[in-house]
Amino acid sequence: MKKVLVAGASGYLGRYVASEFKARGFSVRALVRTPEKLASEGPNLEPAIADIVDEVFTGDATDRASLKNASRGVDIVFSCMGLTKPQDNVTSEEIDHLGNKALLEDALLHGVEKFIYISVYNAENMLDVDVVKAHEDFVADLKASGMPYAVVRPTGFFSDMGMFFSMARSGHMFMLGDGENRVNPIHGADLAKVCVDAAEKGGDEKEIGVGGPDTFTFNETVTMAFEALGKKPWITHIPMWVGDAALFVTGFFNKGLAGVMSFAVTVSRLDTVAPATGTHRLVDFFRDLAAKNATKR
Ligand SMILES: NC(=O)c1ccc[n+]([C@@H]2O[C@H](COP(=O)([O-])OP(=O)(O)OC[C@H]3O[C@@H](n4cnc5c(N)ncnc54)[C@H](OP(=O)(O)O)[C@@H]3O)[C@@H](O)[C@H]2O)c1
Repeated sequence: MKKVLVAGASGYLGRYVASEFKARGFSVRALVRTPEKLASEGPNLEPAIADIVDEVFTGDATDRASLKNASRGVDIVFSCMGLTKPQDNVTSEEIDHLGNKALLEDALLHGVEKFIYISVYNAENMLDVDVVKAHEDFVADLKASGMPYAVVRPTGFFSDMGMFFSMARSGHMFMLGDGENRVNPIHGADLAKVCVDAAEKGGDEKEIGVGGPDTFTFNETVTMAFEALGKKPWITHIPMWVGDAALFVTGFFNKGLAGVMSFAVTVSRLDTVAPATGTHRLVDFFRDLAAKNATKR
């Protein structure tokens, strides 16, 4: 039986990828910093995976020595370990670049067959964003390392659209720009299939751009979230220059928050439409979130 290390297994995508590897007969080692998180469902309906994981390896990318031997006895490394929310005094460079680099060095030492990494779609147009640069600096290390690899480049995840849902729940949405840029977001389960296919394939395809089956403008996405909640859409558009100014000011007192904001501001300016795959529909995701929201009240 082949063994996979899933780094970032407690996150939105990581849980689906761990489940997909398990369903295809792999033994799954989950690399996490807080093992207890695996026992409960995530905030965007991503499943609890404590019962399907074979081994848990506890490590933290900010303490790179703790990642040593994570790959011992492993055939495939999959990493979606990354900084997606601001953490005090932690940068994307430390987690997305140097944390993954430490994993790669360990994987090379232990003779891993293939390394699958999640970066972002359209990265070449966003290299001035810290988190994207950190992803791509790691991709450069991966390519130079001699390790067989695949880089999966997804559009926005359904979990990101979950942020729109949270704002719609408050009854009012502030949206940067005119909201007419388009995206085809992808569900974690659909993306997980692409990731595990990349691990199992011979290795011709090294760069895999992927999005979900439906393309929407941001306005359509938010309207759908309001409708799932049975609320009348109330969206206030904010000029892009206001977002730029807020980002500039935030950069002085909270670099972590500015890093996350900078990704959001940049994405609001671009179409992010990648080759479509999958069967999960955003409207169903919003309905499921609304149903969960209703039972919590
Ligand atoms: N969300 C999107 O729309 C999107 C789109 C394209 C690409 N991506 C990329 O895909 C990857 C996964 O995204 P996601 O939405 O699944 O993110 P997520 O839910 O935030 O999961 C990130 C994972 O990384 C782990 N992590 C963070 N800091 C760590 C540290 N210091 N040491 C060890 N592990 C750490 C998290 O652990 P904890 O659970 O302990 O925090 C979690 O398991 C990220 O690299 C992201 O940039 C995301």
